[in-house]
Amino acid sequence: MRLCAGEGRRDGRVQQMALAGVQSTSEPVSGGVFIETYGCQMNLVDSEIVMAMLEERGYRRVDRPDQAELVLINTCAVREHAEVRAIQNISRFKHLKEKGRDVRVGVLGCLSEYAADQLAGTLPFLDWILGPDAYRRLPGLLAEPSSEIPLIFQGNGAEELYDDILPSRRSGVNAWVTVSRGCDNHCTYCVVPATRGRLRHRAANSILDEVKMAVDQGFVQVTLLGQNVNDYRDGNLDFAGLMEKVSKVPGLRRLRFMTSHPKDLSERLIDVLASGGPICPELHLPLQSGSDRVLKRMNRAYTADQYRGLVESVRKRVPGLLLSTDIIVGFPGESERDYHQTEQIVRETGFDDAFIYKYSERPHTPAAKLKDDVENAEKVRRLMILNDIVRASGQSRRLQRIGRTERILVEGPSARNESEQMGRTRAGYVVIVPGAYLSGNELDVRITSLSGYTLRGRAV
Ligand code: SAH
Ligand code: SF4
Ligand code: F3S
Repeated sequence: MRLCAGEGRRDGRVQQMALAGVQSTSEPVSGGVFIETYGCQMNLVDSEIVMAMLEERGYRRVDRPDQAELVLINTCAVREHAEVRAIQNISRFKHLKEKGRDVRVGVLGCLSEYAADQLAGTLPFLDWILGPDAYRRLPGLLAEPSSEIPLIFQGNGAEELYDDILPSRRSGVNAWVTVSRGCDNHCTYCVVPATRGRLRHRAANSILDEVKMAVDQGFVQVTLLGQNVNDYRDGNLDFAGLMEKVSKVPGLRRLRFMTSHPKDLSERLIDVLASGGPICPELHLPLQSGSDRVLKRMNRAYTADQYRGLVESVRKRVPGLLLSTDIIVGFPGESERDYHQTEQIVRETGFDDAFIYKYSERPHTPAAKLKDDVENAEKVRRLMILNDIVRASGQSRRLQRIGRTERILVEGPSARNESEQMGRTRAGYVVIVPGAYLSGNELDVRITSLSGYTLRGRAV
């Protein structure tokens, strides 16, 4: 979703930090840490937590691996492609050790929990492999002598929340703030319950304190994060109540959240979403499939008609809503008819954005027992058709913004042209404006045109 400048781009929930060149000749920096983050926003926050722990002990972030004494790669395991890419990317760092330099390399993230033995076997030059609940080990390990083989540390699924650590955020306008860790939903295709363990909620007061500190540090937007924020609880307080409390933090201009599971999206949360103020009219509501038969086999616990009902309710009550989704095509046993039902609901709904994935069989998940029987070429065909439909609906919904005046939050210079600024409307549409405006400021802009998926406008 929203990323601070320089932190990568949204690409599904999967983002990648810019790959830094590894051929540079620059000198190592004492206490330098190079950290590269793949996967979802949970990993981004975890990298910020790890950095905070290290900074407290005198380490500091460097921008290039050849300046680092410590290289960390935070990995994702959600699809096979993410795993293959992670292994390739980690291999890039082997040569740092071959130069005889005293550098230590660790792997963090979901792959460390999911495929640690495989990582250790394929990449024996690694020092440590640490799962998402084992990061507190890292400072202690740095003080110990190097081991000949990669040491593996995994969580025990315990109560780790890293609640006492204020993430070390890089500059930008948005602060990601986790409300929970882990997931208990057990969608049959998904590795996350295995990699991140049981669902745990943070106490509301701790979340509020973190939001206040982020605002004090200059972050004007907060995005509350959880695999399924809708099941948040702290005593009698639910997620809608938490949103209300957070929205009252003085100085906070924009408040967003992700991800919502349709089975738990409450009427009360829809009311809160419609209440305005800092609460932005944006909802990411993964559909996954439009076929009840497939949804059942995915263990999603809602029907396509229930999803339609939610969309109708939220669109009616939240004007100007930006609605996005995730879809998996080619789930085991997905027939042409099942796929057509997905196509149908995608056409009807008119999403602003959708992240469409080919089903990727993940060992040890419940769905891995089912035969991955949709041919790759057919998965690609289904994915491309859905992408075309969403591109058209996304453009048509953006075209409706032309001629309106919208308040954008400036995020920084546009990637293509430094003399223009990139900002987002309250719903979250990207808008480019010519001129020099400071990031973090809000600006009223008249929307004038659409190029591709990007709106352009002029300050009024
Ligand atoms: N907790 C969030 C995000 C989970 S991962 C949620 O429930 O939406 C992000 C997306 O990756 C999922 O929504 C799903 O569409 C996709 N995904 C997860 N596992 C997958 C798999 N095995 N193959 C293909 N896509 C997958
Ligand atoms: Fe995975 Fe489902 Fe949990 Fe999302 S809700 S993380 S898809 S198990
Ligand atoms: Fe996120 Fe990938 Fe883990 S999507 S939770 S980093 S498997």
